[in-house]
Amino acid sequence: MQKMVIEGGYPLSGNISVSGAKNSVVALIPAALLANGVSVIENVPDIRDVYVMKDIAEELGAVVDYKKNENMLIINAAPARKTKVSEEKAGRARASYYFLGALLGRFGKATVPMPGGCNFGGRPIDLHIKGFETLGATVTEDEDVVVATTKDTLFGQEIYLDFPSVGATINIMLAACRAEGRTFIRNAACEPHIVDVANFLNAMGARITGAATGTIRIDGVDEMHGAVHSVIPDQIEAGTYMIAAAAVGKDVTVCNVIPRHMEFLTDKLIQMGVKVEEGGDSIRVSACENPKAINFTTTPYPGFPTDLQPQMVTFLTVAKGESKVREGVWNNRFQYVDELKLLGADIFAEGQNATVHGVPFLTGAQVRATDLRAGAAMIIAGLMAKGKTVITELEHIDRGYEGIEEKLRAIGAHIQRIEE
Ligand code: EPU
Repeated sequence: MQKMVIEGGYPLSGNISVSGAKNSVVALIPAALLANGVSVIENVPDIRDVYVMKDIAEELGAVVDYKKNENMLIINAAPARKTKVSEEKAGRARASYYFLGALLGRFGKATVPMPGGCNFGGRPIDLHIKGFETLGATVTEDEDVVVATTKDTLFGQEIYLDFPSVGATINIMLAACRAEGRTFIRNAACEPHIVDVANFLNAMGARITGAATGTIRIDGVDEMHGAVHSVIPDQIEAGTYMIAAAAVGKDVTVCNVIPRHMEFLTDKLIQMGVKVEEGGDSIRVSACENPKAINFTTTPYPGFPTDLQPQMVTFLTVAKGESKVREGVWNNRFQYVDELKLLGADIFAEGQNATVHGVPFLTGAQVRATDLRAGAAMIIAGLMAKGKTVITELEHIDRGYEGIEEKLRAIGAHIQRIEE
């Protein structure tokens, strides 16, 4: 078993670079299967979810070459013929559901077991299914296996999402690329990776407009070809490093970011008293003496993202005063709070609300990475705490952060991984 050991209290300084966006690349790989040709995806992070999605693409018959040292994926989707994802593979990543939209679009049928991924309470895909059905597909769910088929073709339609779901927006967009006629997705999600996926699809021959506006228009096309695309920087990884720098940074520059994608966080950190300066593609962050408590609610983009909630709560554990946090996206995303309490944090969490009372300092302890972002939060907690923090269940962290220990070590963190 691997463990991460952090000796806290060492200030961070220097440049830390952000990799390509996990939540974009896990959609770009299935998207590549819409083409009858070769796509090249650049700036691909070396994380476990990429390997899972690559395995599934290969299971479906695509030929995939991952040039890890160049962060490049070459996907030849021409030989892909199969339309059924195995249960074992689908269970390894939440994003396996994107193969539903991609296979339905290209072959008119798809069989995908209900996906795995982090557990934040119920993670239904009813909005995805409603979207496919509106496009004319027949969708059945039998023993947690989703089967979507169309007799002839999909037909463009108006689809209203009850909630701006990231997954449903992308999945419907994938299927609608090959539908006959025009589709509108209304109340669509606006996250930066929605735009990234739309850009890739357009480069493949799709006709999509309006990504990032809340209404996405897709004019179906008969054929799609391979394309070359570079993944946008990971907004959540960038935010994780900004928060780490705010908590224990002397002078840290987070490089390879799109500052506009980080405004929700920049604003909150400045409110807390942290010094934040935006550059062209970098953000410089320096910790302050006595960070102030703040309140925030997670909401879909451009609001404060749920995927930075655990990291921000961790920082707030030492902010002076009382902070109130509301989780507005998932109904069960405070499981990690018990771990922070082991380090001496004073947090009361109930349902979708948490109240944090700042304490003077955290003290190292053994904690679990209960999910991916909770794992990132434990790393930040370990950097902040006095003494030694040991983190277990690292497989969650490895799903989504490329070389996080190496990157943090290079700017002064005392962090290592040990095998036991
Ligand atoms: N929802 C439904 N029905 C649906 C789909 C979603 O009720 O059919 C609800 C969910 O239960 C949740 C809310 O809508 O309450 C938001 O879900 P969304 O569909 O937006 O989430 P997702 O697509 O399953 C992606 C990210 C998550 C991130 C959320 C929200 C991927 C692979 N995952 O999940 O990322 O938390 O969007 O931004 O893109 C992570 O990276 O750590 C992570 C969990």
